[in-house]
Amino acid sequence: KTVSYNLEITNGTCNPDGGASRICFLINGQYPGPLIEANWGDTVVVTVTNHLQTNGTAMHFHGVRQLGSCGADGVGGVTQCPIAPGQSYTYSFVASQFGTSWYHSHFSNQYGDGVVGPMVFHGPASANYDIDLGVYQLTDWYYDTAYQVAARTLNNLQSKNGPPAADNILINGTNKNAQGGGKYNYVSVTKGKKYLLRLINISVDNYIKVSLDNHPLQVISSDYVPTKPFSAQWLTIGIGQRYDVIINANQTAANYWFRAEVNTACQSANSWYGRAVWSYNGVATADPVSSSFPAISDCTEPTNILPYWVQPVPSGNFPQMAETLNVNLTGAQVVPGGDVVVVWSLNQTTLNVNWSNPTMSYLFDQNTEYPSNLGLIDTVAEGGWNYWLIQQSSGIPPIPHPIHLHGHDFFVLGQGTTTFTGSETLNWSNPPRRDTATVYGGGWLAIAFRSDNPGAWLMHCHIAWHISEGLGMQFLEQPDKITMPEKSGYDNLCSAWNSYAGGMYW
Ligand code: C2O
Repeated sequence: KTVSYNLEITNGTCNPDGGASRICFLINGQYPGPLIEANWGDTVVVTVTNHLQTNGTAMHFHGVRQLGSCGADGVGGVTQCPIAPGQSYTYSFVASQFGTSWYHSHFSNQYGDGVVGPMVFHGPASANYDIDLGVYQLTDWYYDTAYQVAARTLNNLQSKNGPPAADNILINGTNKNAQGGGKYNYVSVTKGKKYLLRLINISVDNYIKVSLDNHPLQVISSDYVPTKPFSAQWLTIGIGQRYDVIINANQTAANYWFRAEVNTACQSANSWYGRAVWSYNGVATADPVSSSFPAISDCTEPTNILPYWVQPVPSGNFPQMAETLNVNLTGAQVVPGGDVVVVWSLNQTTLNVNWSNPTMSYLFDQNTEYPSNLGLIDTVAEGGWNYWLIQQSSGIPPIPHPIHLHGHDFFVLGQGTTTFTGSETLNWSNPPRRDTATVYGGGWLAIAFRSDNPGAWLMHCHIAWHISEGLGMQFLEQPDKITMPEKSGYDNLCSAWNSYAGGMYW
């Protein structure tokens, strides 16, 4: 079956928590955008039309492996030119996984201004439930635009103050603000029923911890990977990560708070907190009086994620096999306006993408050499395993980074909060498998993935300012086997972009 969607991106104003009205972007007139829904195995066709006046766009379907359809990955400057104002582009790919995810603009920081929405591919669940409540999109929200916050972040980096705190946390695009304006998200449940809730962190900067008072969360999948069910009192969710959870409405009939707050064990940035109200049927809806958030003193990811389908990873001498990638700060980058700042980088290289001449262009033209500034990492030959150690260098602010890989679910062999020594025990037998995992502040992340998906992919920190500063790398996987996008559509996009581009993007 084929399911088709049209996404129309327009300028708008948003005031989702009643706190301040600001410029934002809308998809089909709404923020967050409409749900993209399909069944496992369906072909998904999404036409994106850019009605913005002074911004390009490009749409990425987070976590979708894009098997044989790398050209639909939607990364401006890698797989396509940005869609110029007035232009449309059609993405087509197979829902080769099932579960919960999101789509978002992959053009600069644009998703932080509203070009984001949920995506659900239906498939089997690893535990029973009665009712699918759909998604909870959790996000930090700023009264300034993402562009303004990114600029302040650069200045703050210079003085090492870190990024500004978010103004609020939204649940499905709504919350009250500190002064009481705005409105909560409300859910009504029936005692005795089990509910599936799909949690997604769509933030630009923050790790969000969630819980529902008196109700444990039974996790049944992490990212697109079904897991053996496990119970959690709370979960910390990094940007880009998802957890599908089952909630058993078996408590005293009452109102309960659903809580979504910045995990201050991850980052010092504080903000107002996110709340939703869960009411049992027959109980008058009112602000709950239920207990407070469980105390959390760490920023670690669950260690009991056991993928339902066991897939061991070929083991060996990891330090010897691994490619080491150091997360660092690089000085003396000149930013627009002429300021010299330090920026987040990987192996002292900042990712540069060329919107006018994306990496894919070099793949079309086999006679051209790849420019040396693409920030490319080599992958191993077809069918082989890649082992990467991502290590945050010491002596820089120990900030956790949600690392996301395009084109793959990777295996998390280990994570630690200090410098990797080589003698750590790694998990080879049934490691967690997901598409976004954290390199802890001052710590390390060891991952593995198989070269089984030819494409031009990105690996990056999902903190919006970090990727826009260059904390990422491109990797070309089996470049001679990549199924290329249809050339005339690709070229039309680039010629429209190149005749539009006047250097003004915001
Ligand atoms: Cu959620 Cu590079 O993307």
